[in-house]
Amino acid sequence: MIVHGGVFMAKKIIVTGGAGYIGSHTSVALQESGFDVVVFDNLSNSNISSLDGVAKITGTRPEFINVDCADFSALRSAFMLHRDAVGVIHFAAFKAVGESVANPTMYYRNNLNGLINVLDLMREFEIPNLVFSSSATVYGTPAVLPVTEQTPLQPATSPYGGTKVMGENIIRDTVHAYPQMHATLLRYFNPIGAHPSGLIGELPNGVPNNLMPYITQTAARIRPVLNVFGDDYDTPDGFCVRDYIDVNDLARAHVAALNYMLSGGDGVSVFNLGTGRGLSVMELVRGFESATGVPVPYKIAPRRAGDVPAIWADASLAERVLKWRADTPLSETLASTWRWQKNQSN
Ligand code: UFG
Repeated sequence: MIVHGGVFMAKKIIVTGGAGYIGSHTSVALQESGFDVVVFDNLSNSNISSLDGVAKITGTRPEFINVDCADFSALRSAFMLHRDAVGVIHFAAFKAVGESVANPTMYYRNNLNGLINVLDLMREFEIPNLVFSSSATVYGTPAVLPVTEQTPLQPATSPYGGTKVMGENIIRDTVHAYPQMHATLLRYFNPIGAHPSGLIGELPNGVPNNLMPYITQTAARIRPVLNVFGDDYDTPDGFCVRDYIDVNDLARAHVAALNYMLSGGDGVSVFNLGTGRGLSVMELVRGFESATGVPVPYKIAPRRAGDVPAIWADASLAERVLKWRADTPLSETLASTWRWQKNQSN
């Protein structure tokens, strides 16, 4: 809280990409923690209806500005209106690996210009705290599992991954040059799930690339069959292994990161955000079937180019420093995902 002329004002946070999947859940978590949320989003891969969901869940509709972070002058006007913000959570970015391979300059232009504009405007308006959406993709194919924040980074295997590695470096250099700025880089593993209310969730554009929305759309008979990419990996059951983290847990980690910086966390901090547990594709499919009672027809398909056989997080640093842990049971996550999917189908 900030006291302004005797009136208590909630601390304001700018959430770029706040109408998107992780952004909308984080807006809920921020509002529930007493922050005032302003969403900057150009709705290029999100829907304004997600803010209706946020409003229904929290009782407060975040202020919304339709703005493209890659458009400096438009973004500057938006920042000018909210120069009293104490932090920025920067989600706004393109995120499809395959699309980035097909159209690399589009990815570099959008994701890097957006980030650079945000950094320049934070400096101009003296907004000190940044939370950045990074990704486990920065670890490439790790030699040792689980990966810690000390695990060496590998050259990016896609332009999307490149924007995350470069984004982290751009932020480090900027904070180094302007020590009044602080940043937290959050390396997400595989976010899944929806808000337990079923009011917000993932809204994939067209045919989903990611496993979880493909499972729910197959269960809902929108897709005839799930293609399971590869059953001959060198993993316990032959299927790829990932660390699937509940999006509500992920959202809470952003609040914890902000609070950490607001209470003195300095410089650039980096945290893995995962559960610490690896699950195979088939374990997730079976888990969904047993949590919901709905069958998921699948067939084994060839390996997908670029897939890492196995990766999961050591998330103990976030637990120690941020006092945060991903603790939503998988069955609850899967039930919420299905509730959300059914709401969409209705
Ligand atoms: N999979 C299938 N069938 C599908 C979709 C996915 O079998 O229809 C498998 C994949 O082969 C993989 C697993 O499900 O083994 C997970 O795939 P996702 O596409 O859901 O997730 P990825 O791990 O490939 O990608 C995620 C993020 C990216 C990020 C990447 C690396 O979506 O943003 O992790 O960190 F770059």
